[in-house]
Amino acid sequence: MMNVEKIMRDKDFQLGIFSSNCSGGFAATKIPERWSASWDDCLRLAQIADEVGIDFMLPIARWVGYGGETDFHGSVLEPISWASGLLASTKRIQVFSTINTAYTHPIVVAKQIATNDQIGHGRAGLNIVAGWNKWEYDAFGIELPEKHEDRYALAQEWWEIISKIWYSEGPFDYNGKYFNMKNVHGSPKPYNGTVPILNAGSSGEGRDYATRNSHFVFTNVMGPEDGVEVVKNITSAAKKNHNRDVGVFTVSHVVCRPTKKEAMDYLHYYAEENADWGAVDNLMNLQSLHAKSFTDEMLRTYRSRFAAGHGSVPLYGTPDDVANEIARYHKAGFSGMTVAFVDYISELEYFAQEVLPRLERMGVRLPRLIEQEV
Ligand SMILES: Cc1cc2nc3c(=O)[nH]c(=O)nc-3n(C[C@H](O)[C@H](O)[C@H](O)COP(=O)(O)O)c2cc1C
Repeated sequence: MMNVEKIMRDKDFQLGIFSSNCSGGFAATKIPERWSASWDDCLRLAQIADEVGIDFMLPIARWVGYGGETDFHGSVLEPISWASGLLASTKRIQVFSTINTAYTHPIVVAKQIATNDQIGHGRAGLNIVAGWNKWEYDAFGIELPEKHEDRYALAQEWWEIISKIWYSEGPFDYNGKYFNMKNVHGSPKPYNGTVPILNAGSSGEGRDYATRNSHFVFTNVMGPEDGVEVVKNITSAAKKNHNRDVGVFTVSHVVCRPTKKEAMDYLHYYAEENADWGAVDNLMNLQSLHAKSFTDEMLRTYRSRFAAGHGSVPLYGTPDDVANEIARYHKAGFSGMTVAFVDYISELEYFAQEVLPRLERMGVRLPRLIEQEV
């Protein structure tokens, strides 16, 4: 089970599974066997992840697909209901919900996450998204604020209200620019006192928000080399500006096979020959217009990386190659990373059998003890 203070102390490398609630998962591909994100597959995946010692499941909050031939991310299980179902059906794994601050009321979210935390006996988490996807704002009939400072000002009030509901006693009034509320309170509180918070703001304003409010900051990097600097910048900004310790996570996709050739052939099959380039271009254009999740250089050069894994860092090759590459992110100072697979289920089974034991032998991860039944 993820324990915020313990992770900071041990520097044990956490692994989470990302985007399994979305059709296509992390791969914008036309192959017929692409991930469907059906409930049955999500449940099976989470139960395997729970058994093999993966630390957390992280969903994407997506309300409009990216089009192309497959409508990549066109079918998406809603994160809070998805998390409730998974928490009720697993024993150890942490299950995050990803929430857009502009589309949801904080009183409702405080209650939903607190409820999930009861269901999972303290295993719920919250990933806060302050917004960037213009197609979604249009669908909701809300203006996407042009300025990042306005997006994050709303997100700040939103989070202040939730944290006050969770972490203070008694009713309170809230008088802000975006919310004016009277006699606010909420019970139950988080099951074990604290809910871990993730945030992935990358702009200046986003970084400031993430380092001020979250336990873990997510960031896209080019690789472990630039990662060293990125981790240093984020952790020192958190300390200097907010006197806080944060962990830094990055995002990856995995193609792991017994031989390097098999891995690279499979990559070519799903992400070059059968890439859904229409969806890739829509995703990249939307990102470049409204978010700073990827640098301009990444958006200029990473078309293939977006088809293969949503622009995240690649982990390709044999189990040794993949384990060695993960170890480089650990060495760079990351607290953990998310992984994604084309077929999450069979590929996680192989990853668990071959890569996880190597990471333990290398001292990157401690063996996950089978904890007491919850
Ligand atoms: C790990 C991770 C998870 C994210 N999850 C979502 C999501 O589910 N939905 C979404 O709209 N944006 C998501 N984002 C986007 C970010 O929350 C954020 O809006 C984006 O990085 C732009 O921030 P910026 O405009 O401050 O640069 C995610 C980003 C990362 C790296």
